[in-house]
Amino acid sequence: VHISVAKSGGNATTNLQYGVMEEEINHCGEGGLYAELIRNRAFQGSTTYPSSLDAWTAVGRSRLSLQNLTSPLSSALPTSVKVSGKGTVGLSNDGFWGIDVRPQKYSGSFYVKGSYKGSFTASLLSATSGKTLASTKVKSKSVAGEWVQHEFTLTPKKTAANTNNTLSLTFDASKASDGSLDFNLISLFPPTWNDRPNGMRRDLMQALSDLGPKFLRFPGGNNLEGDTIDGRWKWNETIGPLTGRPGRATTWGYEETSGMGLVEYMEWCDDLGMEPILAIWAGFALNGDAVAEADIDAYVQDALDELEFLTGSVDTKYGALRAKYGHSDPWTIRYVEVGNEDNLNGGLSTYESYRFAAFYDAITAKYPHIQVLASTIDMTLPGSAGGDYHLYDVPDNFVTNFGMFDNYTDKHPILLGEIAVTEFNNGVGIDWNDKNFSLYPWWIGSVAEAVFLLGAERNADKIIGTTYAPYFMNLDSYEWSPTMISFNADPDDTARSTSWHVYNLFNKNHMTNTLPATWDGTYGPLYYAVGLDSVTDSHIFKAAVYNSTADVPVSLTFEGVGRGTTADLTILTAPNAFSMNEVGGANVVHSQTTTVKAGKKGVFSFSLPNLSVAVLTTNA
Ligand code: AHR
Repeated sequence: VHISVAKSGGNATTNLQYGVMEEEINHCGEGGLYAELIRNRAFQGSTTYPSSLDAWTAVGRSRLSLQNLTSPLSSALPTSVKVSGKGTVGLSNDGFWGIDVRPQKYSGSFYVKGSYKGSFTASLLSATSGKTLASTKVKSKSVAGEWVQHEFTLTPKKTAANTNNTLSLTFDASKASDGSLDFNLISLFPPTWNDRPNGMRRDLMQALSDLGPKFLRFPGGNNLEGDTIDGRWKWNETIGPLTGRPGRATTWGYEETSGMGLVEYMEWCDDLGMEPILAIWAGFALNGDAVAEADIDAYVQDALDELEFLTGSVDTKYGALRAKYGHSDPWTIRYVEVGNEDNLNGGLSTYESYRFAAFYDAITAKYPHIQVLASTIDMTLPGSAGGDYHLYDVPDNFVTNFGMFDNYTDKHPILLGEIAVTEFNNGVGIDWNDKNFSLYPWWIGSVAEAVFLLGAERNADKIIGTTYAPYFMNLDSYEWSPTMISFNADPDDTARSTSWHVYNLFNKNHMTNTLPATWDGTYGPLYYAVGLDSVTDSHIFKAAVYNSTADVPVSLTFEGVGRGTTADLTILTAPNAFSMNEVGGANVVHSQTTTVKAGKKGVFSFSLPNLSVAVLTTNA
């Protein structure tokens, strides 16, 4: 095919093309990004998931019992564990299905109540061999009737053979006043990204940092909405000291500690230079309950308070609270999404008739610079409101939707806030009943995603940005596959999916402007988008080949780019359509970059194989 790209006449794109969507699902935060190694560290339960001793084992003949003491550690953390017995007693935790032990500094802490004159022993142990991998004595500061925090560090000398390891905490019961002590909030962190206290797991942050996402949509997803109105994600219960965070039942079958709360999300944005796209609760829960119109103002005010907490000066009530929690400088919020998928579960009528308008009017009145997004495009959007569109489907349908945004209005920008090819081609499309989703993204699905992304890039003036979803999955406990990045307790096993490689290639070659093109072909099997990076002054051609019977020869010209100009051409391929990047496995995506030179009349000639994703960028 011959493609001629014009010099001008396209549109300026938004700067946010590719981002991340995060909500607590698949243990992506708890037992994932949030670097805490101790599972069920504070016995946080809820009516949905009552407090339990999950992940905890008594050491030797010790007895463990959950207690709701009259003076608990805090009203947010009312349940603690009593450890009793004779001689050396204690408890051990097997982490989030394993604990990674290597020669690095682990920072631990625990709260204990009761008079105790001895010392505690904190150890990392191999559950396979029983060997001690690291151990330290912690002198007791414990006194009767008070909760006292103790801190310790552990520095193993060697990397453990595997992640089948535990943290154990023991003491001499004969030196405790009544032979027992109460414990709560037992925590252990490895070194975190940027060494932030209460921070994030390094390998997963590295996988994101290498991808270079431009925005973060958080904190949901269904998890924002809650199963019930009272079960919603409450921003003000996720901030401040960990002792003040009660945790909550996620909508994904487990409890979250809220250790990764609103401030941690913002620090995550700071650390990776991502634009926050803040989702606020919109008066609707997954069970179909909607806040009545007469009662909605309180929830609108709650969202305004959340925005004041994030962006207000220290002279405001909530800005002062943020400063108290260590961030005197306000953050900037430019995008707010109202709710999540309010077109589902019977939510659309109340959303369209009063819920969205209540939030939109209040936020735009107080913060006119904020782009407010509805959580759907299935409604008439008021004023300058944008919308969020989600797509989960089979590869063929992603390809069919290549042109979806070509005729979309430029009055209401769209966020593609969740997309993923989830199920294999079946001639029909996604089946939400069997939900026969692949465990990992696979190559033909990633190529199909590339085709859809090209459709979005062609319209990148109207499309704010795109994110895969869900983004992370802990292979030891998950509810939804496939995901962009999969992992287990061993950072060396983390898998950057085939889709990660596609997004990485597109993201690293950002177009500041689209350019119009004419050609002698029709879309399929070749799909492409063309534009310019005005910062580096290079022309960009992005393409994907889906279901071709032969290589596709391309001759490409950019108006104003002459003979002899060189360009880098990167082509991604994989061994076959079903190749996947698996946890603990090797990367199957093959990336080859060659230099091509414009010949007579400035023509770049090359060919693209079937099931390939490619980017050509001219050198200035
Ligand atoms: O990404 C998983 C779920 O898919 C999200 O929570 C929800 O918004 C969508 O239905």
